[in-house]
Amino acid sequence: MRVGLANVKWQTAPASSKRGEVVVGIAPESREYGLTRGKVFPADQATSLLNPLRRLVQSPGRTVGAMGLPPDATVLEVGSGPGFFSPSIARALPRGHLVVVDLQSEMLVIARARLGQAVNASVAQADACELPVGTGRADAVFLATMLGEVPDRDRCIEEVRRVLRPGGVVVIAETRRDSDFIPMSKLRALVERHQFSFVERRGMAWQYVARFQTREA
Ligand SMILES: C[S@@+](CC[C@H](N)C(=O)[O-])C[C@H]1O[C@@H](n2cnc3c(N)ncnc32)[C@H](O)[C@@H]1O
Repeated sequence: MRVGLANVKWQTAPASSKRGEVVVGIAPESREYGLTRGKVFPADQATSLLNPLRRLVQSPGRTVGAMGLPPDATVLEVGSGPGFFSPSIARALPRGHLVVVDLQSEMLVIARARLGQAVNASVAQADACELPVGTGRADAVFLATMLGEVPDRDRCIEEVRRVLRPGGVVVIAETRRDSDFIPMSKLRALVERHQFSFVERRGMAWQYVARFQTREA
């Protein structure tokens, strides 16, 4: 469902991207979600995702470095949760724009607070399978430990492919500490069947950041 502004449910910051109009908050239709138990990571446990010790093992700075973002990029962070990575991404985009997307508004409240006064960031409540962004508008999409919660991962990656410009990248961070961990071999098979080429993997088999670039049909 892609909707007009009349249906906007969530939008706390203006879309200031040079490419404009990327943000529309939508209310996702209710349906069963992942964790293989039919639910998403519970918002009432959001603070566990912000545990300072996590920074030691899954550094936001190193992760964002692996994304290789130009400073004027338009980036979507999908399934942001409470925004563990969001401030680091926003800082890497002094002339760009970050759109932070999650299904759960409670997560976005925390993410927005963590982004502080950042004027180059917006939040939008939406389903990863129906992103509130026009076709070919994004330079990069970032998914961290969220894909395993999406029941239809092919549809999600197809949607990511739709919003990326030609040559755009999707960067996916996974860790085995997440109960929905996706091993690299499975991830490659999934992403590459949607017109992406594998670029690189950083990290270890149990915790990695993988980058893929769109390719022509
Ligand atoms: C395990 S948390 C990870 C959050 C964050 N990426 C991190 O690494 O700290 C997964 C997040 O993905 C979100 N999520 C799950 N399925 C989603 C979907 N279909 N669309 C958008 N967000 C989704 C959940 O609401 C949750 O906030």
